[in-house]
Parts: sequence; C-alpha cells; structure tokens
Amino acid sequence: MTVTTNRLRIAIQKSGRLSQDSQALLTSCGLKINLREQRLIAHVENMDIDLLRVRDDDIPGLVMDGVCDLGFVGENVLEEVSLQRQLDNETYDYTVLARLDFGGCRLSIAVPQEEDYKSVKDLEGRTIATTYPRLLNRYLKQNGVNCRIVNLKGSVEVAPRAGLADAICDLVSTGATLEANGLKEVEVIYRSKAVLIQRRDLADEKQLKLIKKLMPRIQGVMQANE
Ligand code: PRP
Ligand code: ZN
Ligand code: MG
Repeated sequence: MTVTTNRLRIAIQKSGRLSQDSQALLTSCGLKINLREQRLIAHVENMDIDLLRVRDDDIPGLVMDGVCDLGFVGENVLEEVSLQRQLDNETYDYTVLARLDFGGCRLSIAVPQEEDYKSVKDLEGRTIATTYPRLLNRYLKQNGVNCRIVNLKGSVEVAPRAGLADAICDLVSTGATLEANGLKEVEVIYRSKAVLIQRRDLADEKQLKLIKKLMPRIQGVMQANE
C-alpha cells in the first residue's frame, strides 16, 4: 500500500555534502522545519510540506518512482541513476526545476601520485574502483579504453593502496581526499552541481500551486547569494 498525502514531499540528503545547503535554502524560503535529528520525516510547520531525509543515492529513484514530489540531489548521482535505469529498462523521468548554486564537484579519475600518466590510453587493461560505474563506463567507451570496473560504495580512495584497484573514479571537491591518499587527479569525466528535481507526473493542484509559490523564492535566494 502506498501512503497518500496531500502534503508535498521533498527528499533531501540526511547527512552529507548537500544536507546543510539544501536545508538552509528551504529555511531562507520561509519554511519552518521541525527537525528531529533521528527522524526520517521532518514536518514543515507553516506549509503543507514534509521533508524526507534519506541517502543521496536514493533521491533520484524516489522522485522517478513518484514516491517523493521534489528532491535535492547532485547531478552526478542523478545522471548515474538515470543511466542505470535506462540500462535496466526502468522509468527515469524527471523535470529539473532549478540548477542550484551549491554542491559543486567533479567526478574524476585519479591514479597514484608516483605514476607516470600521460593520457587516458594509459588506463587500458587497468582496474578502476568507483561508486559511479555507469558514468565511468560511458566515459571509457567514448575514449575507446577497456578497463575492469570495481564497484565500491565507500572508501573508494583507499582502493589503490589496498591493492583492490590501479586507479579510482570518485568525486573531487577540494582535492584533500586525493592528496591525503597519495593520489592525483588525471581526468575529469563529469562536472556536477546540486539540482532541484520534480516528478514528471505530478498532477495535484494544491501541490503544483505550492511549487509555483516556492520557485520564485528559491530564485530570489540564489540571486541574493550571487
Ligand atoms: C566525496 C568523495 C570524497 C570526498 C572528496 O564524498 O567520495 O570522499 O567527497 O572531497 P574533497 O576533494 O573535498 O576531499 P562525499 O562527501 O560525496 O560522500 P559520499 O561519498 O559518502 O556520498
Ligand atoms: Zn553518497
Ligand atoms: Mg566519500
């Protein structure tokens, strides 16, 4: 059974690089969020909105399946899930309402610092660890390079030292993680920012009205931040 509710459901990352900024943006738009740290759902006290606090990787699917109406998510995660769903013949529909001014990062390939790296061809036959296998695979195909991809959900940056892979493909923001693990960035394969997405089939009048009221506020907050 699916829970039906008239309240607009917005998926946000529970904890991670986008959590604070997503919440701050909503607060700046006038939402009074009643947040209890351990709760999955946070009610908005002055509007018919609930926040669902979930893992970032789950957000695209929740919106594409129509379980949540809106979602704040990184384009990197969104693109990876879209590719996965296309390959699996699942629905991957959504609308981008806004590209946001936070969550900037790049998905890059990195190799051990001491490695003599000249071009992407140097990766031929190597093993690469990543949390983004489909984005990586697309990039390697476009460049005519064959690699073995090892799927890791976390601790990707230690894979080379642990002897699990020759290289990694992971998110880079400041570069501190690569540096700390003796790795250097050699190829940028995707540039990402946070986006606000909406489910394609949203039809509830009241909810659409609420979104119409919210969007100019979001644009306003972003302009004020410029
Ligand atoms: C990413 C990535 C690195 C870190 C890189 O993780 O996996 O761990 O950020 O950032 P830096 O270049 O500033 O050091 P993220 O925070 O997205 O968490 P997640 O991998 O658990 O989703
Ligand atoms: Zn994540
Ligand atoms: Mg990480």
